[in-house]
Amino acid sequence: MITRSPFPFQGPLAPEQVTGREELGRDLAERLLQRRVTALLGPRRYGKTSLLKRVTADLAQVGPETVWIDLYELSSMADLASAVDQGLASVTSPLARTLRDIAGSLSLRLGVLGLELARSRRDRPDPVLSLRALLRVLVRAAERQPLVVVFDEFSGIGDVKKAPGVLRTELQHHYQDLSIVFAGSQPSTMRALFTDQAEPFFAQADLVEIGPLADNAVAAVVEDGFAGTGRGAGGVVPDLVHFVDGHPQRAMQMADALWRRTDEGATATAETWEAALADVRASVDAGSERLFALLPSGQQRTLRVVANGGSVFGTAADVVDLAPGTAQAAVESLVGNGYLARGDRLQVVDPLLADWLRRRFPF
Ligand SMILES: Nc1ncnc2c1ncn2[C@@H]1O[C@H](COP(=O)(O)OP(=O)(O)O)[C@@H](O)[C@H]1O
Ligand SMILES: [Mg+2]
Repeated sequence: MITRSPFPFQGPLAPEQVTGREELGRDLAERLLQRRVTALLGPRRYGKTSLLKRVTADLAQVGPETVWIDLYELSSMADLASAVDQGLASVTSPLARTLRDIAGSLSLRLGVLGLELARSRRDRPDPVLSLRALLRVLVRAAERQPLVVVFDEFSGIGDVKKAPGVLRTELQHHYQDLSIVFAGSQPSTMRALFTDQAEPFFAQADLVEIGPLADNAVAAVVEDGFAGTGRGAGGVVPDLVHFVDGHPQRAMQMADALWRRTDEGATATAETWEAALADVRASVDAGSERLFALLPSGQQRTLRVVANGGSVFGTAADVVDLAPGTAQAAVESLVGNGYLARGDRLQVVDPLLADWLRRRFPF
């Protein structure tokens, strides 16, 4: 029999696989029950979607059901309207019927808007009107039963002019009837949206950050995954924990590689860890190189310095000819795009990008 890897690392986890986020999960559940508009911010692949899936699954056990709206890669109002339509149409719980009934009373059929919007200009509905009508379906459903709405990948909305305004006008008088959470990865867009005083509806949201996974949580996931499939993670768990530095998705990717190199009944060794590291490097190095090549040179130099543990205003910066003004602007951009994070000090978010940078540029 072929055992499946206990370490999925692509896409969100199943709710029951989410561990190590208990405190944040409780906090989010509490906010949703109190109907506080919440924005969950954090780097890509830090587990925002996974955690919200877990929290909303837990809430559904006691009451509120969820409409999940995924705004990944929007480029137009039509994309936004059809994302909301898809979200409403993909509800499977008893709520589905309520939504269909309300939509019917507004002469809407859920799940077909994408097709309608693809018609020729003369025959297609106005996306703004469609969006407004769909948001009204949400609001009316919330009058009948407790409802959570998740807007995932909300930073996607930054590219659609006027979209925040439409959402605001439809939702601002009803936010106390609905539990709304926005999740997003692009720090600059998220911060701009949620701290802009010109948009009071969004500015009132509580900003909640999802941080790195605690080292002991990473260690526990790895050990449990190995033990549950008849393997031992042995003495290399601290190496893995140190290397991934709390990055949830990279932790699972490294654990998966280590697991694949460890036979059933066996225990991973230092050699297994080296082999796993080589496997993952082989699969991600080209991506790191492409990403790096697309950055302006000030940002490249800044990343090099930070990955090597130097200060962007110190000797290390001097060595790579990084002027303070350039470094300042580069740091802003890199933090805004989620490549760097400000913790106690500046840090490269992705440990595998940092690892590539250190191998490629020794200083
Ligand atoms: N609590 C967790 N424990 C272990 N791994 C996690 C956890 N949350 C996320 N991950 C890992 O990160 C990956 C990406 O998670 P996802 O929820 O899609 O992140 P985001 O929505 O922030 O981009 C998952 O496939 C999984 O490998
Ligand atoms: Mg996500």
